[in-house]
Amino acid sequence: DGDAVATLRTPIVAVLGHVDHGKTTLLDRIRGSTVTEGEAGAITQHIGATAVPLETVSELAGSLVDPTDFDLPGLLFIDTPGHHSFSTLRSRGGALADIAVLVVDVNDGFQPQTIEAIDILQRTETPFVVAANKIDTVPGWNPQDDAPIQQSYDAQSDRARETLDERLYELIGELSEHDFSADMYWRVQNFANNVGVVPTSAETGEGVPDVLTVLMGLSQRYLKDAMAIDAEGPGAGTVLEVKEQKGFGTAIDVVLYDGTVRADDTVVVGATGDPIVTDVRALLQPRPLAEIRTEKRFEQVDAVSAAAGLKIAAPDLDDAMAGAPVRVVRDRSREEVVQEVQEE
Ligand code: GTP
Ligand code: MG
Repeated sequence: DGDAVATLRTPIVAVLGHVDHGKTTLLDRIRGSTVTEGEAGAITQHIGATAVPLETVSELAGSLVDPTDFDLPGLLFIDTPGHHSFSTLRSRGGALADIAVLVVDVNDGFQPQTIEAIDILQRTETPFVVAANKIDTVPGWNPQDDAPIQQSYDAQSDRARETLDERLYELIGELSEHDFSADMYWRVQNFANNVGVVPTSAETGEGVPDVLTVLMGLSQRYLKDAMAIDAEGPGAGTVLEVKEQKGFGTAIDVVLYDGTVRADDTVVVGATGDPIVTDVRALLQPRPLAEIRTEKRFEQVDAVSAAAGLKIAAPDLDDAMAGAPVRVVRDRSREEVVQEVQEE
């Protein structure tokens, strides 16, 4: 009937938590990559973005997920640094998120940046699940590579299972001290009022099927209305980084959370001075499952729709600012869009 047809966009999932608790390793397990190994001092220093298609989610989740139950296209994961000096990046990651995974090392429990992450999630009212990570380090653990957690539990000695349960209950206690009523995820009926705790090992993959299942379930259940966008509308996003792209000059890494950006669009980008108004020279998209921070083989494309990580190459981007908004002008006046960017 001529009305714009709403499309369901990919939910944006922020991965937050204290330094070294296993955020990047968890994403490596999902991507089948080794981004962690390439990090200087094994510390994440930038926000990352990785698109995980529904196909991959359902492959990894195995019997736990029936892809025909879902009409969301997959998940866009945002990796954030846990080191204390990167609090701006954590807030930025949190602000982009539709939902989140809070990664907590089961041995280490709540640490300063765990609490900082919880505060961000509370402030931005972002629903989240807790990945109680590194369960493979529980004394006497009998690893079950890539198994759903129930199967993995069944393969443990009573002793190992009891030790893990004790640690999980400590975590649940710490969450309740921060005003979150939490329980093991399989006991949570209403995820709107309760935080689900999922035992995981990013090292062995145990519990990873469960994390993906809970994230898809949460998204499908609570985010569907929010994910309905006019995919043809003018794109809106946030700058992650400003850097040289070989053959294209200065480019910006962007997380696009609404609409579409096309290769012939004019965009307005927040900058250290006045907003930059510039014409897109090229749109470069990472391959599915590639981390935008480390991707080497970007594909040059005509258009990108939300949600996605992409590089935008254009003239005059040198003063573009990480964390600033990016807006496509399209049918609107430049002045209007410049003002919108200034006000954000
Ligand atoms: P930052 O990004 O710097 O905050 O750290 P991070 O949370 O991304 O941690 P990262 O994934 O870099 O992991 C830190 C260390 O813990 C690495 O040596 C990983 O191999 C290890 N690690 C992560 N997850 C697990 C796990 O489930 N089990 C075990 N045994 N080791 C893990
Ligand atoms: Mg990391």
